[in-house]
Amino acid sequence: MDRNLALEFVRITEAAALSSARFMGRGNEKAADQAAVDAMRRAFDSVNIDGTVVIGEGERDEAPMLYIGESVGRKGPDSIPVDIALDPLEGTTICAMGGEGAISVIAAAGRGNFLHAPDTYMSKIACGPEAAGAIDLNQSATENIKAVAARLKKAVEHVTVVILARTRHESLIAEVRELGARIRLITDGDVSAGVATCLEQSGIDLLIGIGGAPEGVITAAAVKCMGGDFQGRLLFHHDSERTRAERMGVKDLNKTYTRDELVRGETLFCATGVTDGPLLKGVRTLPQGRVSTHSVVMRSQTGTIRHIEALHDLIRKPK
Ligand code: FBP
Repeated sequence: MDRNLALEFVRITEAAALSSARFMGRGNEKAADQAAVDAMRRAFDSVNIDGTVVIGEGERDEAPMLYIGESVGRKGPDSIPVDIALDPLEGTTICAMGGEGAISVIAAAGRGNFLHAPDTYMSKIACGPEAAGAIDLNQSATENIKAVAARLKKAVEHVTVVILARTRHESLIAEVRELGARIRLITDGDVSAGVATCLEQSGIDLLIGIGGAPEGVITAAAVKCMGGDFQGRLLFHHDSERTRAERMGVKDLNKTYTRDELVRGETLFCATGVTDGPLLKGVRTLPQGRVSTHSVVMRSQTGTIRHIEALHDLIRKPK
């Protein structure tokens, strides 16, 4: 993954974040998402890649832009061929409600290197670099928390697990409480939360639970760049979902994927905060038409994590 590409991608997630942040707290999820999609799609045109969206807004018949299979980028003779996993606005409800942790995100990898995850659920577990190798999705939450606690040299009571607040997680939450570990319940946005397990200062040690499968692949890309760990297993409720997964190339529907099976080879991850969260500051509006953004960009090849704070002058350059 070319290092210059990383900086070009930041401009794309910045554009999407700036557009969707205008809808923060306005209660209109659709409008916020649409703004992010439109801005991201426009911004892709100026980037020197020959990109194919493999994780995007949905299938061609359900998403007019950034659909799975859509070709993006300038596509010149010297363009870099890449597969793209994106979410222009991860946490649409968060943005619409002005909550915590909405981001705009893109990950890139070589052709064929992302699992083509269908839009189903995924059972996930993620942890930071210190605990990498200690997690196992096929073990109970209790076993995983104990294993991570041992690696981190922390008492189980000091381990913080982030879980999506969903009724499907009632027994998981009860189990973690019974064990005595701490829980951070989030309303949405398990990409930010999963990536936060790799940041010591986030105070989050583990992510456990069921969330979107496409978000799982995107999280695995970020975690790979940061040396953390991730495992995921696709979950299906209907036969139509199974058929769709098979059509997308998933051979074993019950497989537990490791981080490196979800994202093969080198990868690049880039995100800009829309609202304040554990990973990034949100878009801030400043006096005189200026707006600030906070992004992070990283590559698995080098492990460099680069934070980029940008000041945009919307009077001179309207976005
Ligand atoms: P959207 O941005 O598509 O709204 O997704 C937000 C999210 O919370 C993800 O972070 C998470 O993986 C998924 O939704 C969980 O799905 P559900 O809301 O159906 O439980």
